[in-house]
Amino acid sequence: MPEFKVARYRIKAEKGQHNIQQPFSAVFLSDLHNASYGDHNCRLLAAIRSADPSLVLIAGDMLTAAKDAVEMDAALELMDELTRKYPVFYANGNHEHRMKINTERYADAYERYADKIRSFGVHLIENGCERVQIGRFPLAIWGLELPGEYFYKGKMPQLTRMQITDLIGEPDASAYNILLAHHPVYAKIYAAWGADLALSGHLHGGLVRVPYLGGLISPQLRPFPRYDRGMYEITDGKRLIVSGGLGSHTIPLRINNPPQLVVIDFV
Ligand SMILES: [Fe+2]
Repeated sequence: MPEFKVARYRIKAEKGQHNIQQPFSAVFLSDLHNASYGDHNCRLLAAIRSADPSLVLIAGDMLTAAKDAVEMDAALELMDELTRKYPVFYANGNHEHRMKINTERYADAYERYADKIRSFGVHLIENGCERVQIGRFPLAIWGLELPGEYFYKGKMPQLTRMQITDLIGEPDASAYNILLAHHPVYAKIYAAWGADLALSGHLHGGLVRVPYLGGLISPQLRPFPRYDRGMYEITDGKRLIVSGGLGSHTIPLRINNPPQLVVIDFV
C-alpha cells in the first residue's frame, strides 16, 4: 500500500448566532480496513498528533469483514490509542454493518468490537446523535447507518429526507450538524435533511484516478462517480467531504490515488 497523504480543508462554520471564536481542527478517518502504517500505526498516529485535533470523526469501514474472516486488530489498537487523547465519534460503514446483521457468518464479532471500542471511550453512534461544544461552538454529530441494500453492487436504492429522519431524527437547528454517513452518493439528500457538513468515504477515491476525470469506478460499479474524493459544496453552504480512505480490501488497487488522512480546520 502506498503511504497516506494528508488533505487539509478549511471551513468557515456558522450556525444561527453562533460563530467560531477560537478556530479548532478535527481529524476525519474513513476506510482504514485494518491497515497499519508502521508498528502500531505509529506514522498515522504521529500525523494525527501533529494536526492537534479537538476531536476525531470516523465514517466507518475501519475494519474488514470479508467472507471468511474479520480483520480488526489494527482498528481496535488505533481506537485504543486515539481515545487516550481525543474525543472520538464513530459511525459504522457497510463492513461494520454487515458484521452486525450477519451473525450466522460473523457470530458475535460485531458485539465484541462495539463493546471493546466503547470501553475505550469511543462514541459509537448507531443511527443517532451526540452533542458537544468545542469552545462555545455547538456541534451535533450524527451517525447514519443505512441498511445493507444501499451498498449492494449494481444497485442504488432511493433515499429520501424522510427516511433519514425516520432513522436518526431531525437535525438540531441550534447546532452545526455534522453527519457521518459512509456512502457519499446521497450527498444531496444529506444536505436536504440539514447536514451542514457530511463526511463520507466508501469509494476509496474511485480506485484509479484519471487526470481531469477523477475516480474511475464506485463500489456499485458505476463509472466516474460524482463524489469520490475531496470537498464539495452541495447547496447553500452545506458541504460534503469525501475521504479517499486509508486502506483497501478485496481489490488492493490504488493508482494515482494515495490513501488519505483528512484534517478539517473550522474557522
Ligand atoms: Fe465501504
